[in-house]
Amino acid sequence: MSTIYLGIGLVKVFINGYGNIGRRLSTSLSADKEIQFIGIAKYTADDRTKEALENNFDVYVQNEMVGQFKEKGYNTSGTISEAVQKSDLVVDAAKEGGGFNNKKNLYEPMKKAAIFQGGEDRHGEFSVADMIHNSRVNYDNAAGKAFVIQGSCNVSGMGRIMQPLIEKFGDQIRRYDVTLIRRSADLEDSKEVRDSIEWDKNPHHQDDVKDFIPNANLYVDAYKVPSRMMHLHQMVIRFDGKAPSKDRIIESFRNEFGVAVLNSAKGTAVIRKKAMDLGFQHGDTNMVHIHQEVLRVQDDTVKISYSDDQTGMVIPENHLLIQSMIYKRPRNDAIKKTDSLFQMAKKKKMLEEEFK
Ligand SMILES: NC(=O)c1ccc[n+]([C@@H]2O[C@H](COP(=O)([O-])OP(=O)(O)OC[C@H]3O[C@@H](n4cnc5c(N)ncnc54)[C@H](OP(=O)(O)O)[C@@H]3O)[C@@H](O)[C@H]2O)c1
Repeated sequence: MSTIYLGIGLVKVFINGYGNIGRRLSTSLSADKEIQFIGIAKYTADDRTKEALENNFDVYVQNEMVGQFKEKGYNTSGTISEAVQKSDLVVDAAKEGGGFNNKKNLYEPMKKAAIFQGGEDRHGEFSVADMIHNSRVNYDNAAGKAFVIQGSCNVSGMGRIMQPLIEKFGDQIRRYDVTLIRRSADLEDSKEVRDSIEWDKNPHHQDDVKDFIPNANLYVDAYKVPSRMMHLHQMVIRFDGKAPSKDRIIESFRNEFGVAVLNSAKGTAVIRKKAMDLGFQHGDTNMVHIHQEVLRVQDDTVKISYSDDQTGMVIPENHLLIQSMIYKRPRNDAIKKTDSLFQMAKKKKMLEEEFK
């Protein structure tokens, strides 16, 4: 199955997985009037089930788990297999690597379209799709596809910064060296954050970005630090000859969807806390934040540091991807629709005002 065939009416969407990403996807996709929200999958009969039921989501479980959920007093609406059967599209939000078995056991046999998250493989024997989506770069290519991976938060963030620069400065750019400073766990994770800085001998992010920007002369290193708040990327861009001025670089991002330009944030935690204080859903900004005060230009080199909202970043990206895959909607119209659901332009303005 390489393309999607849909009946008439609202698109029926099921979310397979209810972790950090699945919960956020459920909040926003269930609020979209163009979607008939089928519900969510739970694999463990824990408190998150209660939360999902309180949010009025139908909860589907594995056949052999029905009894366990019942014993704990959780009402379920059927099996995961039944939910997939009822859906037009599944947004898979399984923990890293779980999407492959779901594709083989559920989506392919039932001929259902699916979006996978960035922890799944693009290449090799466990590959789940032949493209990684980045709404700033290859939105149109997803139109009508049956299986697509939504790039991870880091990969989505890099695309959002690189593509405007490529469009403005093109051949003048010689190479990108990016250091990803990654959080060790999300705020909601119960796992311990170890006091250690850890390196990654083969970060997947470099190949993932090259999947949608194949000509980029890009080198990525990735480190995990003991933080739960956000990622910080330092991107070093080398130009042929003298680099553009700081003002020209900043101007490239002024009107970019999902990119805020801040000037006094001091660190990732204050941004996350501000998002919570301002009442942003799930405490997410859903964007990257360029830190203007540490943007440096010297000779042929520009250094941009930006923080990347790890949990929130990919949620509007998934929403945009649905609009390409299912509705084949022009990108500008899709951005308007996603903005009306996530209030991204308003949030960008608020953050820029708070950290001016
Ligand atoms: N966290 C982030 O910041 C982030 C950002 C971008 C992309 N991603 C990607 O998004 C995906 C999900 O990450 P996450 O952080 O949401 O993980 P997570 O919080 O660990 O949640 C994973 C969920 O998978 C569910 N699950 C277990 N077996 C499953 C199966 N066979 N099929 C479907 N779901 C299953 C678990 O359900 P139970 O709880 O019921 O056991 C759990 O809710 C990964 O590919 C990750 O790389 C994560």
